[in-house]
Amino acid sequence: MTELDNSTDLERTARAADSGANATRVFQSKLAGGSTIPTERVDEVATAAIKALHDVIRDKQVTYEEYDYLKKWMIQVGLDGEWPLFLDVWLEHVVEEVANADREGSKGTIEGPYYIPDAPMLPAECTLEMRADEPGTPLRFQGQVRAVDGTPLSAAVVDIWHADDLGFYSQFAPGLPEWLFRGRVITDDEGRFAINTMQPAPYQIPTDGSCGTLITAAGWHAWRPAHIHLKVSAPDHLLITTQLYFEGGEYVGTDIADAVKPELLLTPTPRADGQGNEVTYDFVLDPA
Ligand code: DHB
Ligand code: FE
Repeated sequence: MTELDNSTDLERTARAADSGANATRVFQSKLAGGSTIPTERVDEVATAAIKALHDVIRDKQVTYEEYDYLKKWMIQVGLDGEWPLFLDVWLEHVVEEVANADREGSKGTIEGPYYIPDAPMLPAECTLEMRADEPGTPLRFQGQVRAVDGTPLSAAVVDIWHADDLGFYSQFAPGLPEWLFRGRVITDDEGRFAINTMQPAPYQIPTDGSCGTLITAAGWHAWRPAHIHLKVSAPDHLLITTQLYFEGGEYVGTDIADAVKPELLLTPTPRADGQGNEVTYDFVLDPA
């Protein structure tokens, strides 16, 4: 047990619940302008979505009691600030599938609610911000960014963010240093990068908010496997938003957000110097 593990379950749950409200706050600043989606498109999609729900009500013979609990629950999702969590866990993976179906390069997956732009810029060989007594297993994560024709992409940006060894994200769970495990790493002349960090832990959807209420009521589990988030970009290439997971890790086969793909699995090996693990993963970017 590390020092940071000393919080009680109660404290950890309380910290997890704050992440939902912060995710709503951060998202609200993302779409500052008005919508440019045409009326015909809103009509088309909204009509189809509402009809899909009508079909569920008929098919499942939904009762007034169930309808009232749905209303109560939806009101509470908003009050808890958990719409970003709900949407990113249960819908985003299909939006990503549709958006990136035609890509040839590396696989993408969901962004999730915890991305912060403008993280500190770091050189190709770097160590992410961490605390002096940071718990966990050190991980050296290295690789190369290339175009689909194999050309190395120098000065590409590997924007990385991940949870700590307790599954918490900086700037969302309180009490963590501002840029903990966040950085924008610039690849070298050969398109390479080498990032020293700590392996993240599995992430639990906050269980004391309304997403937790649904999970408990439906008898599901609340976990995502441990993962590293990335946005990889280079001039004249399509940005890829992805996540990498750990082969054989807990919840890899039962991710509540359904965002794991076989191409996104890392298999770290122990380092020769005994300083934790290392793993290599290359990114291939489609032309813009
Ligand atoms: C959520 C959290 C994540 O870390 C993630 O990658 C996707 C979704 C969530 O709480 O909604
Ligand atoms: Fe995440």
